[in-house]
Amino acid sequence: MSVPQHSDSSAIILFGATGDLAKRKLFPALFSLFRRGLLPEKFAIIGTARKELSVSAFREYVLQTLREFGRFDPAENEWWNKFAPHLEYVSVDATYGESYSRLKSTLNRIETEIGLSGNRVFYLAVSPELFGTVSQHLKTSDLLETEGWKRLVIEKPFGHDYQSANELNKEIRSVFKEEEIYRIDHYLGKEMVQNIEVIRFANSFFEPLWNNKYIANVQITSSETVGVEERAGYYEKSGALRDMVQNHMLQMVTMIAMEPPSRLVTEAIRDEKVKVLRSLRGFAVDEVKKYVVRGQYAKGVVGGTTIRGYREEPGITPESTTETYVAAKLFIDNFRWAGVPFYIRTGKRMPIKSTEILIQFKNLPMNLYFNKYGDLQPNILSIRIFPLEGIYLKLNAKKPGTDGVVSPIPLDFCQNCEAGYNSPEAYERLLLDCLHGDSTFFTRWDEVALAWKFVDPISTAFREEKVELLQYDAGTWGPAQSASMLKEDGFRWWPINPEKELHEEKEAHFVRM
Ligand code: BG6
Repeated sequence: MSVPQHSDSSAIILFGATGDLAKRKLFPALFSLFRRGLLPEKFAIIGTARKELSVSAFREYVLQTLREFGRFDPAENEWWNKFAPHLEYVSVDATYGESYSRLKSTLNRIETEIGLSGNRVFYLAVSPELFGTVSQHLKTSDLLETEGWKRLVIEKPFGHDYQSANELNKEIRSVFKEEEIYRIDHYLGKEMVQNIEVIRFANSFFEPLWNNKYIANVQITSSETVGVEERAGYYEKSGALRDMVQNHMLQMVTMIAMEPPSRLVTEAIRDEKVKVLRSLRGFAVDEVKKYVVRGQYAKGVVGGTTIRGYREEPGITPESTTETYVAAKLFIDNFRWAGVPFYIRTGKRMPIKSTEILIQFKNLPMNLYFNKYGDLQPNILSIRIFPLEGIYLKLNAKKPGTDGVVSPIPLDFCQNCEAGYNSPEAYERLLLDCLHGDSTFFTRWDEVALAWKFVDPISTAFREEKVELLQYDAGTWGPAQSASMLKEDGFRWWPINPEKELHEEKEAHFVRM
């Protein structure tokens, strides 16, 4: 795992430099790394896209994106003046071999001019249909013939099912070795997702309880308030299942459920994650409806604004059956987790934007003794990923000054509530890891393959209408069936980011005179 260190000098060749991801995430991340002194002493960022742009126009464009999306204020100008000369631009039509010769000669010139050692990161922030094509062209145009190392960073989606992912993988693997491929799942770059490992394995009181003897269920929620935005073309083919579950949600499941790795090194950690995916109980197409809830948002109100339904969104057909919400009950059939349901849910147009993992512990038999004034609440550990970053743990304690009244009291730690602290963006962390050659928080092929194998029967069941598509009002927590799924098991979804509730619980615990 990486510790702050200087990376080797390198060129970062960014395909899709005028695209959305580069604008919103990559340039701000690169600039922030630069300001924090974490980029190598010698580096060049070579933007490529089909558009003809001069280098100065490209630099101006990047500056605009930083103003809009980066943590950039006028006082940053000095930093910008130092950063800008590292930016270059070459117009490349990714499907056209000749274009790559231009890229090659620019790259060679820059490497010589600034004395780079030939290390190259190729970042493909382009449409997924181009992943294979670009990789092949990189090979045939000799851009990979270099003295230094070469790495390929690819965005999701990696295929749209197991078969397409496998074909894509073969195409890429005919050019790059597995250890040269960095498949991005940006959730793995989030501070608190990375912290799961530390919370679990660096605290002696969690690990002994982290199993089916003490844990009743696990609840993982990633809710969004936005709708489909301008991504109708992509989202119609993907839906929430492929967009969020196959990657981000399953990655969070693996981090919670994995066994302690033999050593804290990349492959040992990834091996343990793969074992979780292998133990994940697959569903036959006909039984998917027992375990999965599928929803689509209808008109409703989010944050006081009336929102149109998914089928009325621009670019979406009025008959669309694409799901914008998925909830599921998963089982990990291994010794540690047998019998513990992992409930996951993700959706667009929900009441709040939030990512949170809740671990509900089992009730103690002693509850019988302590419950004379009502039911005891279970102990809950919450790992908050976004927008709050931290954890809270709900304990039961005697209400001071009473005769044995027990009430829950939350102990909480919020790292991004600290004034003046800003967590690095996921992309900062991931770009840096890639420059350091650390692929711990990128997905290995076998993880991707197993995740698709799990998701494929669910996609089939959706396509064949074996799971009813339920409408939910925008601004709600999804179809009621999602709550029923937990209710049947004697559980309920715990509120997400219940700041107000936590505060009230703390207040209610004390009888103030
Ligand atoms: C992306 C999905 O991978 O993750 C988007 O394609 C989704 O649809 C996004 O909005 C959510 O990421 P985050 O970091 O905002 O939770």
